[in-house]
Amino acid sequence: MTEKRNLPGVAVVTGGASGIGEACAREFAARGATVAVLDISPAGQAVADDIGGKFFLCDVGDEKVIEARAAEIESTMGPVEYLVTSAGILQKSAMRPHEFPIPAWDDIVKVDQRGTYLTCLFFGRKMLERKRGSIVNIASVAGMMSTPLHSYTPAKAAVIAMTQTLAAEWGRSWVRVNAVSPGVTLTPALKAALARGDRDVSTVETVSPLNRLIDPAEIATAVAFLASQEAAAITGVNLPVDCGWLVSNGWHFYGGLREPQG
Ligand SMILES: NC(=O)c1ccc[n+]([C@@H]2O[C@H](COP(=O)([O-])OP(=O)(O)OC[C@H]3O[C@@H](n4cnc5c(N)ncnc54)[C@H](O)[C@@H]3O)[C@@H](O)[C@H]2O)c1
Repeated sequence: MTEKRNLPGVAVVTGGASGIGEACAREFAARGATVAVLDISPAGQAVADDIGGKFFLCDVGDEKVIEARAAEIESTMGPVEYLVTSAGILQKSAMRPHEFPIPAWDDIVKVDQRGTYLTCLFFGRKMLERKRGSIVNIASVAGMMSTPLHSYTPAKAAVIAMTQTLAAEWGRSWVRVNAVSPGVTLTPALKAALARGDRDVSTVETVSPLNRLIDPAEIATAVAFLASQEAAAITGVNLPVDCGWLVSNGWHFYGGLREPQG
C-alpha cells in the first residue's frame, strides 16, 4: 500500500474478492479511488466494506450481466475512470490435450479471454464517449511462452493481444489499455492449486532470478502505476511482474542461474 493518492475517481475491479483483484482493490482505494468490487463470489462484499467501496455480484462470463453492471455503476457511483480485469480461473496443469474435456477448455476461455474482452467493451464504451479512461488487464507470463496449460496459455496470449488491439483502436479517444503479466503469485488460487498438487513451486527459486514468489500487493502497485496519470504516455504494453522468470529461460541450457559472486 502507498501514501500516494494519485487515483482519484471511480475504479472497477473484476475478481476483486480475492488474490490479485483484491490487492488491486485495496491499492486503488489507498490511492484515493472509490472502488466497485465485482466478483462472482459474495466474498467481494467484505472487501468492498473494508475499503469503503461497493460490491456488485457479477459473472464476467455473462454479457447481459456485465452490461447491466456497467450501467448501474455509472449511474450510482459516477463515471468510471479505471478498469482492472482480474477475474480469472486457473487450469489444472497435468492434462494432455486429448484428456482435457472441451467444456473445461471452454470455461477458461469464457472467463479469462471472452470475459476480459466483454468487460473492456462494456466499461470502455462510456470511457470512449467521455474521451478518458484507463484499463489494465491481468494477463500472465503463461501467455508469453509455451506451457502445458492448453486453454489458459492461449487465453492469456489473447488477453495480451486484445490489450494491444484495443489500445490501438481506442488511443485516439484517449482511453489507454495496458496489461500486467504476473509470474507465480501467492494468491488463494495458487494456494489451492498447490494443495491439489497441480503446481510445483519447488523449482521457482532455481528458475527465478529474484529467488522467490510474488506477493499480490506487488502486482497491484504495477497495475496502479499503469492506471495512473504517471503512465499517461503508456498504452498497449504488457508489463511482466515476474521476479525475472521470463529472462532466465535461456540460462538452463548453460548450467542455470549462478550464485552471487564475491
Ligand atoms: N496467482 C498467480 O500466480 C497468477 C499468475 C498469473 C496470472 N494470474 C491471473 O491473475 C488473475 C487473478 O488470479 P488470482 O490468482 O488472484 O486468483 P483468485 O482465485 O485468488 O482470484 C480470482 C477471482 O476471480 C473471481 N472470478 C472467477 N470467475 C469469475 C467470473 N466468471 N466472474 C467474476 N469473477 C470471477 C473469483 O471468484 C476470485 O475472487 C487471474 O486472471 C489469473 O489468471 C494469476
